[in-house]
Amino acid sequence: MGTILLGLQWGDEGKGKITDYLAEKMDYVVRFQGGDNAGHTIKIDKNYFFNHLIPSGIMYPNVQCVIGNGVVVNPEMLLKEINTLKEKNISTKNLFISDKCNIIMDFHIALDSAKEGKDEKIGTTKRGIGPTYRDKIARIGIRFCDFENTGLAKENIKKNLKFNNFILKNLYGKSEFDPKDIYKKYEKYYKQLLPHIRNTEMMLFEACKEGKKILFEGAQGTFLDIDFGTYPFVTSSNTTAGGAITGTGFPITSINKVVGVVKAYTTRVGNGPFPTELNDETGDKLAEKGKEFGTTTGRQRRVGWLDLVMLRYAVKINGITGIAITKLDVLNGLSRLKVCTEYRLNNKKIKNYPSNYIELEGVTPVYKDFDGWGAFDNIESLDELPENAKKYLKFIEKYLEVPIEIISFGAGRRNTIEI
Ligand code: GDP
Ligand code: IMO
Ligand code: MG
Repeated sequence: MGTILLGLQWGDEGKGKITDYLAEKMDYVVRFQGGDNAGHTIKIDKNYFFNHLIPSGIMYPNVQCVIGNGVVVNPEMLLKEINTLKEKNISTKNLFISDKCNIIMDFHIALDSAKEGKDEKIGTTKRGIGPTYRDKIARIGIRFCDFENTGLAKENIKKNLKFNNFILKNLYGKSEFDPKDIYKKYEKYYKQLLPHIRNTEMMLFEACKEGKKILFEGAQGTFLDIDFGTYPFVTSSNTTAGGAITGTGFPITSINKVVGVVKAYTTRVGNGPFPTELNDETGDKLAEKGKEFGTTTGRQRRVGWLDLVMLRYAVKINGITGIAITKLDVLNGLSRLKVCTEYRLNNKKIKNYPSNYIELEGVTPVYKDFDGWGAFDNIESLDELPENAKKYLKFIEKYLEVPIEIISFGAGRRNTIEI
């Protein structure tokens, strides 16, 4: 059976931590979209691990880790990540990559940077994600399976660069790439990664048939989804639950849980609307306490109050069955805190989540106030939480009509309770 785990906000909700926590009881952990724009942190004892492409189940030698067809892979970055883990004595023998993954090549990164430098900025991670997904949809992408002795890779790189070199040179005034050099470079990477490359959809189908437990690890978050996010300030993949199916080939009828990871407040990195953003001392305090700096780019994250209007929408479009709430400890010590329960536009309550960003930028959030709570440490059950923290969580649960199943109050594995 399959469980999907994904972020319900703008990414960095703590998906890496919760995936690592749940992976202990899993047979497989599978990435299904995004690429090395993701940065998932795991803390074991005093050591931090940062995964960009490798699934966060990799700490367990018995867990099979799969990078599904929906992921765009920069092989250079993946090989670096494999080596970093090897240096720390973590085996990557159990890592499998779909032969259908589209490959991020140097010219995709050049295109991403050139576009960000010229047009209205999205604030991308400049990892080549958008241009690679664009090529996939335009049917000029290059996949690992193209390198399987058919001559397809050479031919596809040539065809692709006819288009992308034209854009680089004429639209952005940048240097062109030589198809022969690109082929040589990526053929080498392909050969290095070959022991890991598989038809992963068949692997997962067999695992499902055998009754194995499979966890799908989302990257980014619901409001960065290409369809349902705050377009155009989004990433280029479906970060929502459907992406786990199209990004792996897993049978939809075998998914039995969808866990939404929610930070106890809200953060966003990059540009775009953010109705509950705090541009004041409280925001600075939360950013500092929550160490809100990007895992991939090191950029400072924008910070704001928890937004239940966006979460209610996220719960619906993902079919969420349970919530994992993270970073509750970061709110400790505040005297008062707020939660957004309604958006108003021109003094009227908005019924549906706004579809265009201009409207979203114009909304006024309506807040409910809560009394704060003091510090707590190493609790082992819900009962041990301070009363006001319990009230905060109960309100969220009731508003969203979904149970909170996991509470995280620190980066480590032990700072977690299951309800
Ligand atoms: P992801 O992209 O969703 O995996 O999240 P990131 O790893 O980018 O960012 C989450 C950050 O918060 C990381 O530095 C985690 O170590 C940290 N973290 C996760 N859960 C908690 C928590 O409950 N409390 C605190 N204080 N930190 C947490
Ligand atoms: P994880 O998995 C937070 C944001 C970028 C930018 C937008 C588009 O760690 O939660 P892209 O490079 O994807 O074309 O950038 O998406 N973004 C993320 N924000 N967490 C992430 O991943 C993100 N991946 C992309 O900042 O606003
Ligand atoms: Mg992250």
